Amino acid sequence: MKLLAGNANPPLAQEIAKYLKTKLCKMEVRRFADNEVFVEIHENVRGEDVFIIQPTASPTNDNLMELLIIIDAARRSSARRITAVIPYYGYARQDRKPGPRTPISAKLVANMITGAGADRVLTLDLHALQIQGCFDIPTDNLFAAPVFVRDIMKQDRAEKVTVVSPDVGGVARARALAKRKSFNAPLAIIDKRREEAGKSEVMHVIGDIKGRSCILVDDIIDSGGTLINAAEALLDKGAHEVKAYITHGVLSGGAVARIASSALTELVVTDSIMPTENVKKASNIRIISIAELMGEAIFRTYKERSVSSLFY
Ligand code: R5P
Repeated sequence: MKLLAGNANPPLAQEIAKYLKTKLCKMEVRRFADNEVFVEIHENVRGEDVFIIQPTASPTNDNLMELLIIIDAARRSSARRITAVIPYYGYARQDRKPGPRTPISAKLVANMITGAGADRVLTLDLHALQIQGCFDIPTDNLFAAPVFVRDIMKQDRAEKVTVVSPDVGGVARARALAKRKSFNAPLAIIDKRREEAGKSEVMHVIGDIKGRSCILVDDIIDSGGTLINAAEALLDKGAHEVKAYITHGVLSGGAVARIASSALTELVVTDSIMPTENVKKASNIRIISIAELMGEAIFRTYKERSVSSLFY
């Protein structure tokens, strides 16, 4: 097995290598003066099972291009099998046409990854499960839920917790976490409605959250707007406190500052996206690692063992 990594998240790649008791393959991923990406693999990968670790987070296009060029370099170096390990799949939110004359970029990116020469994809909490269908190669989509539940049960008394979906679109994800065997927490849902055109949205909370420790669950936090509004609605309706467990900390613009001054007691994100210094310093943001989960999935893929057993 050979583990390769681009520049998107070196600390995560190192942690995965540590879990697998191996070292990252020696390679260079650098820029020419005009900013073109250049890749040189310094070890023999002929006939090897190659795993390329590269989340396509911001700067999304640069990281995506690095991934494509590393795949190409591995293919031209006669790797036996290439797995693109993409802990955060950028462009996932563009998974359908929102209107006429618009792209489906999630599919375009999948075509690019396949066209570059990947044989498999290993990813985490895709924004929508059906994005797996964008790929015509085997795609394993892992879930951060087992990692989250273990952490929640260390921090809180399970019987006081209610899991909350911040919008109707996220109900399946929140329910799957709430109903995990070891956990079995009640579920509440926030339903945002614009009751009259031109008036701001009203947040309805479906479910009993009075006096409860609410845990908001979602795949992505970007501007933070969804979570901050949800936290305020829950506290207004009598929640005792509100925390959030989100797989991908996109945290663009002034999101970190907004979270810092929000009503959220704590935001927990994984390291699927490399945290910035700002995120690391934020007093109410905590990062938990998915390195073991990804590492174990890589090991099982390599050994041709079941990966789905990691879902539970
Ligand atoms: C939306 O469908 C996603 O699941 C997230 O709720 C959304 O991307 C979060 O964005 P923001 O933090 O900007 O509200």
